[in-house]
Amino acid sequence: MRSTPLVPVMLLSLLACSPSNAAAPVPTARQQPPVKDAGAPGIGDRDFPLDGNGGYDVAHYGLNLAYDPKSKHLAGTATIQATATQRLARFNLDLSGLDVGAVKIDGRDVTFSRKGDELTLVPAAPLEKGARFTAVIAYSGEPKPIKDAGNLGIYGFVPTGDGAFVTCEPSGAKTWFPANDHPADKARFDFSITVPQGLTALANGEMTKPPATASGKTTFTWSERHPMVTYLATMTLGKFELRQGKTPAGTANLTAVDPKFHSELNKLYTTSGEVTDYWSKVFGPYPFSSTGGVIDDFAAGYALENQTKPIYGGFEPDESIVAHELAHQWFGDSLSIKRWRDLWLNEGFATYAEWLWSEHKGRNTAETIFKSFYERGATDPMWAYPPGVAQPKDLFNESVYTRGGMTLHALRKAIGDTAFFKLIKDWTAGHRYGYVTTQQFIALAEKVSGKQLDKLFDAWLFQAKRPTSW
Ligand code: ARG
Ligand code: ZN
Repeated sequence: MRSTPLVPVMLLSLLACSPSNAAAPVPTARQQPPVKDAGAPGIGDRDFPLDGNGGYDVAHYGLNLAYDPKSKHLAGTATIQATATQRLARFNLDLSGLDVGAVKIDGRDVTFSRKGDELTLVPAAPLEKGARFTAVIAYSGEPKPIKDAGNLGIYGFVPTGDGAFVTCEPSGAKTWFPANDHPADKARFDFSITVPQGLTALANGEMTKPPATASGKTTFTWSERHPMVTYLATMTLGKFELRQGKTPAGTANLTAVDPKFHSELNKLYTTSGEVTDYWSKVFGPYPFSSTGGVIDDFAAGYALENQTKPIYGGFEPDESIVAHELAHQWFGDSLSIKRWRDLWLNEGFATYAEWLWSEHKGRNTAETIFKSFYERGATDPMWAYPPGVAQPKDLFNESVYTRGGMTLHALRKAIGDTAFFKLIKDWTAGHRYGYVTTQQFIALAEKVSGKQLDKLFDAWLFQAKRPTSW
């Protein structure tokens, strides 16, 4: 399930040499001579040249996993159903660490090689363009999270005292399964996760059968039936207290907290239900089959909008952050970006949702919040960072969030509430389970409002200074 490539595959080798990528660890032509019918090592996001891969489109990941927190050993089998989008004599998956065992494609043995986080599979015979194939990869080892010295902190598969905290944005899925690890290739997911008895494994979607215990181990079976980007996949596990039921409007709600957060279980359950129902009115129907939230005791310093199960890393989430993470179920999860540069389409919208929630609750209005940020002086770093172009070394900059949210408020004021809220619903309906770009949003805003909005979007998204007129 993949978006149309942004960059023709032929151009990738040229892009790799362009000055903007000078510092990126792209294999040069000399190190890696082009192989006929090879899938590209990256999906075509020029800011992250090795994220994702070219030449195929994944439809389904079947992940059969067993983890033992004592030994920190993960044993996995990934069954990946995909379609070749070109003739493939070889292609890559992303995988960080771990040992790869047997690999088969359509039942036949495959040779493979590894270099950095690229796993290259060479099928017994080339896959023809359009061919559907199934790759089965057995792997094991101790998963290692990614520790980013910049602003990303620690992410991916993070071992905890009682299990694991698994949050993968932007590119940490490859720390626990071989993946086309970029948001431009969504797929459906099934999980079978075996853990020591007494622990709970929480993945996306819903449990398809009751947990089954045998010889001291329990297997949890989860299915996410809607397309999902790899960074939203999780297999968070440990000791958890669960509450299951329905939101007042009838969406299934599964909320889980580490026992350390026992007193938060009912509050998170209730808030998540209330927020899900309210956003369903404002943004359009809830896109997935269940909602909820997870609090684990790992102090990540952030939350993540894992599909159907936002996770809060070691803190008691207030309503505002619950409103933020659940807004992402529409903006980021159902509607996903094709390239990281457009991240404000996730974070600006989720931040604006916090302000809408505050307004809904009779606290500060979005207008008041907008004004308080707008008062920041011209030298504030937020004005130097145009949120419409998220920077690879500083993706989650405050500007992407706050100035992104301010962009939506400026838009709301320019086109009026009726057009603005119609636009938001048209946006989520028109791209449900799909991929979006900033240009598509601007075009829809102009269409719905009947107004020329170039100046507004340019001032708010693309200029490295504080907007003064728009
Ligand atoms: N999307 C998350 C949020 O705004 C932030 C994730 C940050 N990722 C990270 N590795 N720090 O809710
Ligand atoms: Zn966010």
